[in-house]
Amino acid sequence: MIDLHDIRYVRIGSQDLDESVAFATDILGLELVGREGHAAYMRGDDREHNVVYVKGAAAGHVAGFELASSADLSLVAVELEAGGIPVRPGTAEECERRHVRNMVTIQDPSGNVIDLVVGPAASDSRYAPSRDAGITSFSHIGLRATAPKVDEAFWTARMGARVSDRIGDAALLRIDPVHHKIALFPSTFPGIQHVNFQVQSVDDIMRSYYHLKNHNVRIVFGPGRHPTSGARFLYFQGPDGMIYEYSCGVRLIPSEEEATYVPRQFPFAPSSFCMWGSRPDIPEFRSVT
Ligand SMILES: [Fe+2]
Repeated sequence: MIDLHDIRYVRIGSQDLDESVAFATDILGLELVGREGHAAYMRGDDREHNVVYVKGAAAGHVAGFELASSADLSLVAVELEAGGIPVRPGTAEECERRHVRNMVTIQDPSGNVIDLVVGPAASDSRYAPSRDAGITSFSHIGLRATAPKVDEAFWTARMGARVSDRIGDAALLRIDPVHHKIALFPSTFPGIQHVNFQVQSVDDIMRSYYHLKNHNVRIVFGPGRHPTSGARFLYFQGPDGMIYEYSCGVRLIPSEEEATYVPRQFPFAPSSFCMWGSRPDIPEFRSVT
């Protein structure tokens, strides 16, 4: 079984790199780590980078996960291929662009592109945001799933993720004690559906709510509270249609509860996404596609 240590990065195609960087620094509150060629490297915590904007919408979306052990990579490739999942070793150039020692690339059943990496570059400096949004970490992603049940089976049986809760067919998956690091939302096409950053407190969420409104950023859900993870949240839209989320207070499922934890089944209804009454203006949270 594959042991994913953590989600490490997302790579997001950008039609206008300057616009993406301006939004990420002035609005979202990330730090620009640097630009290399047609890519801009950003971060929302002390790790070397978490988000890369790659020029060109056709660059698509990639989610990078760090493996628990650097010895795992070759075993992982053998295990996945034995299960019928094609594994493509990363080229030297791809490793260099991702700042990792080694990697393979796979696709989940919906076609989401997933990097499995070892030896990601460490950083020797603290995260220094250009706007104090209270971000404490890059934490999880929503992934579009064209066949949610098949994708859920892939992530649990092949990738070692566990189901924390379901909203209809949307599975919220954990790979460590955090309630979810991956959320699979039914969709008609693959891709990253939202990118989450944890913030320190609900004060940060409310400060950002007014900051975003004052800057005419489209708020698509919240402020609200998820009945699943208990997290307070705010979702908003950035360039290229990408949805970003701030949240705080996510539930933890400690290792001593792993053996006895039973996922809860919430109905696919607006109240399952927000227990305060906020209603999502996000298609994947509103209807089963
Ligand atoms: Fe989320």
